[in-house]
Amino acid sequence: MSVSRSSRPEGAEPRVGVWLVGARGSVATTVVAGRAAVTAGLHAPTGMVTETSLFADSGLPPLSSLVFGGHDTVDCPLPKRAEALAAGGVLPHGLPTAITSELAAADREIRPGGPLPGDTRDPDELISTFTADIQDFVGRRGLARAVVVHVASTEPAPTGSDLPPSSLYAAAALRAGCPYVNFTPSTGLHHPSLVSLAGSVGVPYAGRDGKTGQTLLRSVLGPMFAQRALTVRAWSGTNLLGGGDGAALADPAAAAAKNAGKERAVTDTLGTTPEGQTHIDDVPALGDWKTAWDHIAFDGFLGTRMTLQTTWQGCDSTLAAPLILDLARLLTRAHEAGLTGPLTELGFYFKDPLGEGPSALGEQYAALTAFAERLRGRARGRRSGEPVPEHAGEANL
Ligand SMILES: NC(=O)c1ccc[n+]([C@@H]2O[C@H](COP(=O)([O-])OP(=O)(O)OC[C@H]3O[C@@H](n4cnc5c(N)ncnc54)[C@H](O)[C@@H]3O)[C@@H](O)[C@H]2O)c1
Repeated sequence: MSVSRSSRPEGAEPRVGVWLVGARGSVATTVVAGRAAVTAGLHAPTGMVTETSLFADSGLPPLSSLVFGGHDTVDCPLPKRAEALAAGGVLPHGLPTAITSELAAADREIRPGGPLPGDTRDPDELISTFTADIQDFVGRRGLARAVVVHVASTEPAPTGSDLPPSSLYAAAALRAGCPYVNFTPSTGLHHPSLVSLAGSVGVPYAGRDGKTGQTLLRSVLGPMFAQRALTVRAWSGTNLLGGGDGAALADPAAAAAKNAGKERAVTDTLGTTPEGQTHIDDVPALGDWKTAWDHIAFDGFLGTRMTLQTTWQGCDSTLAAPLILDLARLLTRAHEAGLTGPLTELGFYFKDPLGEGPSALGEQYAALTAFAERLRGRARGRRSGEPVPEHAGEANL
């Protein structure tokens, strides 16, 4: 698909915020660096679906209008983090120096996250602090709106009723009236005590866990086996990765949420759960580079046994960053257009999509296409000055 102008003409555009929770991590740093590289014309927007003709005239905010800020619990400056990523081959050599002012500007907008070790603040105090930080960012920088994107380390699923950190941030996003994206398998808005608040606040939200590699492939291959009436007997997978994500996923409780999303793609697309498990191994030497193997045992005509094996070798942060830029623009535009609730049409982007949408990538792309058309219709209405009808069920997706 050709790359085309998807956003409104620059100049007359209000600036919009992207508040990254986990702002000093590999993914967040690659988002900030990637946006700067693309807007400076240093690199093409490869991997950004919102830069293709699908989103032409959908009224998305220009990339240049995005202003970054966020929370993190560590204090490594973003320019230094970017240098480390360049040394590991994640970012092109020389890029951190070329865009150092953009990295420094985003760094100035990062506030201390939590809870920190020994933190005595109760959950409500933490939520209030996070909310105030986001509201201060929006007010001080004169932003039209801000989207909160969760890209912090994967946490284990909560066992009790306490809100885990990801849910504290999700609650803060709701209190601040911000659209919200959970790009991780962490709980976020999925906590039972946030469900009714999420329904009443009236912001759009999307999640969860970005679909960047192995699961992307599964959402293509699963439908292929089903449509060709081939019987999958077992689907097994192993992932090797390092970096902060690899270290966090070395905790079996944290990896469980990630693997559940990967296995869901197989079950949903095949309509059955074959034998086999998915594993994640932390290999620090690999840094941000991931190898994912899948071994699929299937039966053909007359019960003939066959296998398909796939090897995906990818750089995790550079696979994730364009999707996060897409999601930030889409959620911003959806908020501006008055859409609220779970954006189930964005299942294309997630391992464990919200709601009852399709699991096959082709069908998810069709849903995304319909979403782009809906945004286009609203943008046309805005240009012509005609009121855009709010159909029942349309604003509340
Ligand atoms: N890269 C991919 O392809 C991909 C795909 C899907 C999901 N994800 C998810 O994105 C997340 C980030 O991945 P990464 O590679 O950037 O990891 P990372 O370890 O490099 O970065 C995570 C950041 O979160 C910060 N953090 C931890 N606890 C926090 C808290 N309570 N508040 C604020 N910040 C906190 C850490 O200090 C760190 O800077 C992970 O959950 C990962 O599973 C990544």
